[in-house]
Amino acid sequence: MTIRLGDEAPNFTAPTTQGDIEFHSWLGNSWGVLFSHPKDFTPVCTTELGMAAKLKSEFDKRNVKMIGVSVDSVESHNAWIGDIEETQGAALNYPLIGDPDHKVADKYGMIHPNANDTLTVRSLFVIGPDKKVKLMITYPASTGRNFDEVLRVIDSLQLTAKYQVATPVNWKDGEDVIVVPSLSDDEAKKKFPKGFKTLKPYLRVTPQPNR
Ligand code: BEZ
Repeated sequence: MTIRLGDEAPNFTAPTTQGDIEFHSWLGNSWGVLFSHPKDFTPVCTTELGMAAKLKSEFDKRNVKMIGVSVDSVESHNAWIGDIEETQGAALNYPLIGDPDHKVADKYGMIHPNANDTLTVRSLFVIGPDKKVKLMITYPASTGRNFDEVLRVIDSLQLTAKYQVATPVNWKDGEDVIVVPSLSDDEAKKKFPKGFKTLKPYLRVTPQPNR
């Protein structure tokens, strides 16, 4: 299955380390991060899942629920998660889906046969409260993801969902943002009382509106 930005995130029921879930109900009105790792008891995955656990309070602050998935069973996840706490110093504080029959992996296109025909790659989906897919990133098994970058993109997504702005290269929460080109100067003057700088007619910069 090919998923594209703006598509509805496929729903599913699945067993997890925190009990059975129906994905959309589990998300409720929250944002969601659904991410796959290739395999339990592997080194890079151990570091990623530990880092995600350490950052959970940051995801909570943004009203984002995290959930992991791999083609291993819940029993396998449960046998592994003690290693994550022991080696990464963080207990797993979000659920891991057991997906040995690839039900979730197939719905989300997480198995890329030319990379590996049985294991999930490192896919990550950010899902909005409207259940639409807002971000998709895919990393190979050999490269651990950067969860600070995931938080950075969520900050941008949440800001741009509320205000008619876009965020520039390497933007971080609190920095200046871009006025969307579809707003006229007159409209922008009303929407952005702190004013804006016009570098080019299509490139106008304003302080972050909610700061
Ligand atoms: C890892 O997490 O270290 C890993 C998993 C599958 C293949 C290669 C590396």
